Amino acid sequence: MSNSIAALFQCLTQGVYVVGVAHGENCNAFTAAWVMQVSFNPPLLALSINPNHSSYGLLQRGKAFSVNVLKQDQLELAAHYAEPAGADKLALVEWVPGRTGVPLLNDAMAWFECEWVGSCPAGDHVLVLGKVIDGKILDAAARPMTYQETGSMDGAAALFPDAFTPS
Ligand SMILES: Cc1cc2nc3c(=O)[nH]c(=O)nc-3n(C[C@H](O)[C@H](O)[C@H](O)COP(=O)(O)O)c2cc1C
Repeated sequence: MSNSIAALFQCLTQGVYVVGVAHGENCNAFTAAWVMQVSFNPPLLALSINPNHSSYGLLQRGKAFSVNVLKQDQLELAAHYAEPAGADKLALVEWVPGRTGVPLLNDAMAWFECEWVGSCPAGDHVLVLGKVIDGKILDAAARPMTYQETGSMDGAAALFPDAFTPS
């Protein structure tokens, strides 16, 4: 367990997002910080997801995901979507389905809709590449939430090794 390593990694500037997934009638969403742009042309986003998450099966089958950008005052939403799937996590807020059926949150700062174009294993996660097929800024005056603002919400300190080990 390492609080200092967790704090170190929170110095990497990352946003906080609600990633939406869908397959047929089934939808889900989860909080994610490991999202980044990786190409201009075509515009690609990369997402790192723990394959044990309920969302992963829907993502694999639906082959699409949304990235809903959270605003600074939306810590409650970040905590809500970080809960494991059980009761319908999407019942709490208003959303609309995108072209691929993935949930787009009406109250996000902005959203992107992506189609799966590839994946590769990444340690205890899977890196999924998505081509951006649509997107919208909903609240241009808002400031995006940063991962550091979420503090210990994701319990990361318990997930890092105690120290770095040279290979
Ligand atoms: C601030 C924060 C950032 C997170 N970032 C990620 C992430 O990038 N990738 C991931 O797989 N899980 C991430 N999580 C954990 C998931 O949100 C959490 O495990 C969630 O319960 C998964 O939901 P699901 O089982 O309904 O799919 C994060 C949690 C928090 C609080």
